[in-house]
Amino acid sequence: MAKHKLIIDCDTGTDDAVALMLAALHPEIDLIGVTTVFGNAPLTATTANSISVLDLIGRSSIPVHAGMPRPLVRKTMPSERFFKTDTTADPHGTYLDIPRSSRQATSNRAVDWLIETYRNATEPITLMPIGPLTNIAAAVAQEPKFAEWVPRLIIMGGGHEVPNMTPSAEFNVWADPEAAASVFEAGFKDVLMVPLDATHRALVTAEQCAALGALGTPAGKATETFVTRRINSYEEMQKMDIPNSAPVHDALCVAALVEPDIITTRRHHVAVETTGTLTLGRTVVDTHFRGGKEPNAAVAFDANAQRFVDLMMEIFAKS
Ligand code: BDR
Ligand code: CA
Repeated sequence: MAKHKLIIDCDTGTDDAVALMLAALHPEIDLIGVTTVFGNAPLTATTANSISVLDLIGRSSIPVHAGMPRPLVRKTMPSERFFKTDTTADPHGTYLDIPRSSRQATSNRAVDWLIETYRNATEPITLMPIGPLTNIAAAVAQEPKFAEWVPRLIIMGGGHEVPNMTPSAEFNVWADPEAAASVFEAGFKDVLMVPLDATHRALVTAEQCAALGALGTPAGKATETFVTRRINSYEEMQKMDIPNSAPVHDALCVAALVEPDIITTRRHHVAVETTGTLTLGRTVVDTHFRGGKEPNAAVAFDANAQRFVDLMMEIFAKS
């Protein structure tokens, strides 16, 4: 029996896609469902991408529930162009380069599904948000006991020394700062935050990407396609320390679920800036315990890059 029951909340996206495949194919994980949110692309595309990825690897029995199409409070972040609903054209490259599934979302009520699933859970189910935190914040707002019911929350988001959206903010948190702030304040009992500081320590190189593709499996070949797209865009916009490489942020969360030692963490208090203009969406990690508040999260600062790639090689070799 799989050791970890898991729900992934995602905005698929190339790195979300790798995370979904790693979770769906790992023998120690039972991915019981996927919820989607706007983020890397409009909700229609993140939902279609999630379904298409699962179908590609033969996991069409995993339900996908569509969630929030916009931030909780703000109308236009991350940018108006993300909120276009046209699914026929793809002017911004928001669809993944894999066959588009005709499967529809199981429901468009992801927040209700999350609440009901945790209300009725008889075993621990880890919740892993790897997109903007809108669905999770909506569940917290709708059901006061939601945070209490979730045994473990693993968040890909934030950055202490490493930003990627503005000089001080990471995309998932910046895309809905009010939602992120409420999640960190909600009292979840076990929070692991995997920020850019850790994901940028687990870069995947073009050579490793080719080796994943050479496995010849659907997951291996798709990972090569997705990560190559990431490497190309990082080469163009934000060169990494290792030439021709890219972080695959979201997949590192899945790796950390099954192999906790793959990351190095410290416990700190984390809050989110929701008012500053320069610092909007910044995760304020109290690394030097200046704020007088108890730690509310384990924060990952480092990662084992080689083990991360080896894990993907092992799991994607099989399917
Ligand atoms: C996060 O933002 C998204 O672009 C990625 O999918 C990842 O979840 C990294 O900042
Ligand atoms: Ca994501």
